[in-house]
Amino acid sequence: MTPITAPTTSERVFRPRRYLMCRPVHFEVSYSINPWMDPAKPVDAELAVAQWERLYALYRELGHTVDLIDPLPGLPDMVYAANGATVVDGKVLGARFRNAERAAEGPAYLEWFRSHGFTETHDPEHINEGEGDFLVTDSWILAGRGFRSTAEGHQEAQEFFGRPVIGLELTDPRYYHLDTALTVLDGDEIMYNPEAFAPGSREVLRRLFPDAVPVGPGEAAVFGLNAVSDGLHVVLPEAAQRLSDQLRERGFEPIGIDLSELLKGGGSVKCCTLEIRG
Ligand code: ARG
Repeated sequence: MTPITAPTTSERVFRPRRYLMCRPVHFEVSYSINPWMDPAKPVDAELAVAQWERLYALYRELGHTVDLIDPLPGLPDMVYAANGATVVDGKVLGARFRNAERAAEGPAYLEWFRSHGFTETHDPEHINEGEGDFLVTDSWILAGRGFRSTAEGHQEAQEFFGRPVIGLELTDPRYYHLDTALTVLDGDEIMYNPEAFAPGSREVLRRLFPDAVPVGPGEAAVFGLNAVSDGLHVVLPEAAQRLSDQLRERGFEPIGIDLSELLKGGGSVKCCTLEIRG
């Protein structure tokens, strides 16, 4: 449906969410599994925690509920909670990581859910990196592949959740997870960087989302698409100025935040945030 005029802020509907996050007390860049990670480049560990605390506080100020999982030593990437699982309709699909360095995170997150009253959980057989690659819209689960999650992992998610999973091929190593290239804003409304996808997948996105917010390479390169929306507020990296303007024109309230230290691990706002959908 093409809206005749763009929605205004007063028409946007805020829905409080429940998120899971992990304080980056063990965060460092000691290995490299994506092009953003350079172990030779120093990370300010204290600043990383302070920036993360700001995001954590912001979600609560906005009215969201945020649960915390205990960070484990030796798992520096555990701060990227989005990768820990996918939760839809209260059902929890565990993660299975591509890289050995992150393998132990899957069971750790699954254990958190099991000990917090989630009874429908699934230990995956195939590789999927949680909400890094699975993004949920009202009608579909959009699923990235090419670098991390696999087509078999997508299939497993479809059977577990009973929702249609749309596989999308990522082609640019800088945008190795779907959540670095595409954001769900509300319902079936998204924004994405077409250049991150293979031509066929780009065409699929064009057909399914003709009204998507077009995002240019400059905004994508500052991780502007690694954003979290509650239907009204869109929390995104503050460097994505132009994208914030685009969102404002659409009736959203963009809120920029600086996560420079976590970007050194190849993640930002969305990577640090796992949504628990009841
Ligand atoms: N260093 C992590 C990795 O390469 C970053 C993960 C970012 N998370 C995300 N949801 N995109 O796996």
